[in-house]
Parts: sequence; structure tokens; C-alpha cells
Amino acid sequence: MVEKLENILLQVSKSPIIDEGKLEQATQLIVKSVIEGLDISRVGVWLYDDESACIKSDYLLDANQGEQSSATVCAVDFPNYFNALKQERTIIANRAIEHPATSELKDYLAHYGIVAMLDVPLRHKGKMIGVMCCESIQKNRQWSSDEVAFVGILADIYGRAVSAAERVKYEQLLISHNEQLEQRVAERTQSLEDALSNFKQAQDRLVETEKMAALGKLVAGVAHEVNTPLGIAVTATTHCEHRLKKLKQSFEDGKISRNALTQYIDDTLDAYTLMNSNLERAASLIQNFKKTAVDQSSFELVECALCDYISSLVMSLRPMVKNKKVSINTHCKQELTIKTYRGALAQVITNLISNCAEHAFKAPDKNHQIDIFVEKQDNDALLRITDNGAGIDPAIQHKIFEPFYTTARDDGGSGLGLSIVYNLVQRKLNGTIEVQSQLNEGTTFIVRLPNILD
Ligand SMILES: Nc1ncnc2c1ncn2[C@@H]1O[C@H](COP(=O)(O)OP(=O)(O)OP(=O)(O)O)[C@@H](O)[C@H]1O
Ligand SMILES: [Mg+2]
Repeated sequence: MVEKLENILLQVSKSPIIDEGKLEQATQLIVKSVIEGLDISRVGVWLYDDESACIKSDYLLDANQGEQSSATVCAVDFPNYFNALKQERTIIANRAIEHPATSELKDYLAHYGIVAMLDVPLRHKGKMIGVMCCESIQKNRQWSSDEVAFVGILADIYGRAVSAAERVKYEQLLISHNEQLEQRVAERTQSLEDALSNFKQAQDRLVETEKMAALGKLVAGVAHEVNTPLGIAVTATTHCEHRLKKLKQSFEDGKISRNALTQYIDDTLDAYTLMNSNLERAASLIQNFKKTAVDQSSFELVECALCDYISSLVMSLRPMVKNKKVSINTHCKQELTIKTYRGALAQVITNLISNCAEHAFKAPDKNHQIDIFVEKQDNDALLRITDNGAGIDPAIQHKIFEPFYTTARDDGGSGLGLSIVYNLVQRKLNGTIEVQSQLNEGTTFIVRLPNILD
């Protein structure tokens, strides 16, 4: 190949434009190089349409007139030319007006004064996508084999540029898909985080509501319980006052007898004993209530002597189960002190005992009993809260800790009690809780708590 052509090829082949994906610039470079190498005035890159029925000039350059506007040539008008293109071979028409493939383009040839044509197929991934048309107006122009090879190589380089443009297009598509994906993942993550934080807030609110509900039950029960001894004490005082007024009257009338005075003294002493025992009972109820009620509304990490604390708590809870005639007993072999959230523990036990009253003891005449055993096992404190009630059907035992699972929806059960108990034991108290139950025999909840202090 002549040196001039070789040099041009080297320049084009080395140009970064070809592989950068900028097809328009690469096309211009290739077309200009053909014009320069063949020393002709017109070169065009023509591409097939989708059906390969027409070719349309993608870039058409006239060295004298500059860039030409786009034109279309179709098979219906020039069947011979298209048949020749179909062969996918280079058309070398030194005398275009006479060549069987190009003679039917006579009007076009005449219009531009074209004498010779060299049409080289353009290929991409092995498929012909168009043709590079080189047109010469020079008389007796003979295309040399070097020139044919030269344009063939440039046509291949054009194919390389198309591949690069395609690759860049897909890369950009990939980048934009990736960005969209990242955006979506970020949005999803955000919405999941929002949902989680809403859920946590809702859960906290529920725990708070439950806490207040448990406290409400406790207050109502204690108030009712305190009312009875206070009522008795008030009645006894009124009775004493009435007797005293009568005694005063008898004294003023000078009619007081020894017998009546003795009777009065005995009655009054009895009344005082009654008043004392009832006021003491009321005071001790209030005392126990004070010990536990404060804890129910505040969760603080404190040292807790389990046996003592649970006994006081149980005293306060008795009124809650009184109308079901339930006796609650605490069994402790030794005092165990643990570091824990007493309020949370109180809420756990309150819920478990309230559940016994509501679900375990339905039969009215049975001897209802709740026993709370406190013992040490390994390094943990083990609480067993046992009732001798209805038991839980084995088929539903695995569901009772789920939120909103209740068998008492019609009686106003929300099904939150045990799920809150579960969360408090597992998360707040760092312990575990499990259930053992047999129908018609009773239920035992086993709560294991860590952090025993020596
Ligand atoms: N000691 C028990 N004996 C028999 N069944 C029980 C006992 N404790 C709980 N259950 C069963 O477990 C279910 C779930 O209890 P949970 O405390 O979560 O809800 P609830 O008591 O029905 O409603 P809430 O506590 O919200 O008022 C109860 O509906 C009941 O069927
Ligand atoms: Mg409950």
C-alpha cells in the first residue's frame, strides 16, 4: 500500500475518537480521511433502515460544498443497485454510468458530475449495516487495489466505532440503572427504617398504655379493698359516739347504773379492737400499695429483694382476684436479691396474675389457687407462677405470646398482655419466659432472671 494511505490509516486507527463512543466525530474523521486518501470530493456514510429497503445518508461530505443534508435512496427505485449491495461485496465502478450496479443512478450521477463510484460495505458484528460511497468526478478514474483496500480498512474502523458507541451507550444505561437501583434501595431502606421506628414507637406507646392499665386495675382493686376496713372503722366510731352520748345523758340525769357502765366499757373496748384491726389492715394495704405502685409507673434499675418484694406485690394484687375467691401464696426458701427493673417485674407479675383471674378460673366452685415459687438455679433467679385453673390447649400454647392473640376478645381482651410480658422479660429484664400447661390441671409460667447479687 502506498505510504500516504498507510499513514492516514495509522492516524485514524490510533485516534482516541474511534473508541471513545462518539460516533458522530468518528464518522467525520473517517469520511475526511477517505476524501484525503482518495483525493475525491464526495464521500458518504449511508445506513440501511430497519427493513434494509432503503439507505439513508448518515453523514455526507462534499469537499467543495461542505456537509450535505441527509438523503434517502430506496430499493424500489434502484433495484439493481440494491441487488448489488445485497451481495455484500465492494462495488468498484470505474465508469459508473456503464456499471450494471450503478447505471440506474444516472440522474444522480449527472447532477453531481460523478464519473466513478467505489461502494464499500459497512459491517457491525458481522452484519452489513450500510455502505460507504466514494464518488469521483475525475475523468478516467481507476480505483486501484490499494485504494479499495484502504477504504475497506476504514469501513472496518467505522464498525469498531459503532461497537464503541454501543458499548458506551450500554455502559451509561447500566450506570443509570445502577443509580436508579441505588436510589430505590435507599428509598426502601429509608421506608423500612421509618416503619421500624414507627413500630418501635407504637410498641413503646402500647407498653406505656398497658402499664397505666395495669396500674389502673391495681388502684381500683386497692381502693375497693381499703374501703371495707375503713367502712367498718367508721361504723364502729359512730356506734361508740352514739353509746357515749347515751352514757352522758344517763350521767346528767343521774340515772347511770354500774351494770350499764360495765356494758358500755366492754362494748367500747370491743369497738376499739375492731377499729384498730381494721385501720391497721387499711394502713398495711396502703403501705404495700405504696411499695409497688410507684414501681409500676417508673422503670429504674434497682436492687430488689425478690421474696420480700413479691410478697408485698401479691398483697396489693389480692383485691384484683378477690371476687374469684383466689388465694395467692408466695413460697421462698431463701431471700434472693437481684439487680433489676422492679417496675417491669411488677408489671410482669401483675399481668400473669390478672390472666389467671381472667382465663384460668372460670369454674366458680373450685378451690382457686395461685402459687409463686422463688428459687435460685445456677446463677439465675427462677420464678414459677402456677395456677390450678383451666390450663391452655396445647394447640394454642405456641401463640399466646403473640401480640393480639386472645381467646377472650368478646370479653374485652386485647391479646397484648402476654406479648408485653414477653418483651419485658426478654428485653428489659434480660431473662427468659416459658409456659407449661395441661388442660384442666393448670398453667405454670417460668420466668428466669439474671443478675443475682451475693
Ligand atoms: N393462666 C392462664 N390460664 C389459661 N389461659 C391463659 C392464661 N394466661 C393466658 N392465657 C391464654 O393466653 C391468651 C393470651 O393472653 P394475653 O394476656 O396476651 O391476652 P388477654 O389476656 O386475652 O388480653 P389482655 O391481656 O390484653 O386483656 C389468653 O387469651 C388466654 O387464652
Ligand atoms: Mg392478659
